[in-house]
Amino acid sequence: MTTITTLHPKTIEIVKSTVPVLEKHGEQITKRFYELMFSNHPELLNVFNHANQKQGRQQRALAAAVYAAARYIDQLDAILPVVRQIGHKHRSLGIQPEQYPIVGKHLLLAIKDVLGDAATDEVIAAWAEAYEAIAAVFIQVEKELYEEAAAKHGGWRGFRRFVVTKKVKESDIITSFYFEPEDGDAISDYLPGQYVSVKLDIPGETYTHIRQYSLSDAPGKGYYRISVKREAATAEKPAGIVSNYLHDHIHEGDVVELSAPAGDFTLDLTHETPVVLISGGVGVTPLLSMANTLAIRQPNRPVTFLQAALNGRVQAFDEELRALAKRPSFAYHLCYESPSEDDRRHPHFGKEGRIDLAWMKTVIPTRDADFYFCGPVPFMKTVYRALAEWGVPEERIHYEFFGPAGDLTKD
Ligand SMILES: Cc1cc2nc3c(=O)[nH]c(=O)nc-3n(C[C@H](O)[C@H](O)[C@H](O)COP(=O)(O)OP(=O)(O)OC[C@H]3O[C@@H](n4cnc5c(N)ncnc54)[C@H](O)[C@@H]3O)c2cc1C
Ligand code: HEM
Repeated sequence: MTTITTLHPKTIEIVKSTVPVLEKHGEQITKRFYELMFSNHPELLNVFNHANQKQGRQQRALAAAVYAAARYIDQLDAILPVVRQIGHKHRSLGIQPEQYPIVGKHLLLAIKDVLGDAATDEVIAAWAEAYEAIAAVFIQVEKELYEEAAAKHGGWRGFRRFVVTKKVKESDIITSFYFEPEDGDAISDYLPGQYVSVKLDIPGETYTHIRQYSLSDAPGKGYYRISVKREAATAEKPAGIVSNYLHDHIHEGDVVELSAPAGDFTLDLTHETPVVLISGGVGVTPLLSMANTLAIRQPNRPVTFLQAALNGRVQAFDEELRALAKRPSFAYHLCYESPSEDDRRHPHFGKEGRIDLAWMKTVIPTRDADFYFCGPVPFMKTVYRALAEWGVPEERIHYEFFGPAGDLTKD
């Protein structure tokens, strides 16, 4: 049961009436907020993703969440599902209750800085109260998530040391890492679709780096497997820090720290409806975990797996998917953006170019199914809009972002 603080009606009125003003200055406020917070608390740079900061992605995610919460300040229970989703991410990162006042203090300082005289004492006091109420909901939800993760058989709190027992190249750009705990004890089960956070101390880097990676195999096999795409440098952007370090410097026998599996993008194994799994690029990882789990737990449930990739050289897990497709209940269809001649001869090759509704309709036997998808944001927008246009109800559509969550309905 989540207890929610009741605020004074005047506070509610002030907060609700100032949401549009803050929204207007949203990114400016959160940009200032991060500047202030990181200069006073540089240790927080150990948990925040620096690339997300530079690209403003986290600014947008946090701003959107605070304003969404403020809109519902008199009925905070309405935002509990969103809080749970963010809470999974926070729990996976190890965010602690005592860090909430730090965020609150710097958010208020930033509001004052950006709004100047418009931020009267009354407005600031109302937002301070509102933030405390919102933070209390997050803290409670996260407390439950920490307790759940630790209470599971083989579960744990915080980060735990894991040895890389196997490293396997899956394609030109994707490599899998198999982890087993250094302490030799049990590891907790997870739901297919969940992810772990990997924490690395990289020589030469001032701060630790934490990234999330979906578990790419079925649970219950005694190891965790992640599969990582190398984010290479291009003319416009530097090389990704963690993915390149994992590819180049983490070998069999090395140790990394992992937090316990988290996330609410999970396959519902209580349903019997057909399942459609649609992957773009490295977004295949959580969907392959689902496919492998279905093969074990619900072998007769109909599954259609659509995999979109640039071409056969960068595509991962073809062998695993071909093996799954030997069963009559499993259909595997490939969409290559720029296939080679060899790729066109692949027995499961179905479409050249980008995925679209016309092709989806030809290979998905029914829209009366549960749809799960993951991939780059433009791919996800295409798939989401295609499913909506086809008339698939919202509650049948499930997806995961490999970064801060966004809005698939907006361009
Ligand atoms: C729930 C979840 C599950 C995930 N699962 C997987 C998975 O299964 N497999 C997988 O490979 N990834 C997965 N990811 C993504 C993963 O967490 C990392 O984001 C990814 O590996 C990149 O991390 P990095 O440290 O290599 O890159 P970072 O250093 O974090 O950089 C990220 C990107 O930003 C660019 N960048 C950095 N600095 C700048 C700048 N100043 N200007 C412009 N661009 C810049 C980099 O070039 C890079 O492309 C998942 C993410 C989430 C949230
Ligand atoms: C009520 C207060 C807070 C709100 C509304 C909030 C909101 C969010 C949101 C929306 C995300 C993105 C989730 C996603 O991946 O989709 C996020 C991620 C994150 N949050 Fe919070 N948060 C709050 C408090 C905190 C605190 C106290 C900390 C720790 C100091 C923190 C640290 C992080 C980190 C490290 C991430 C991962 C994002 C990244 O590194 O890019 N948050 N939060």
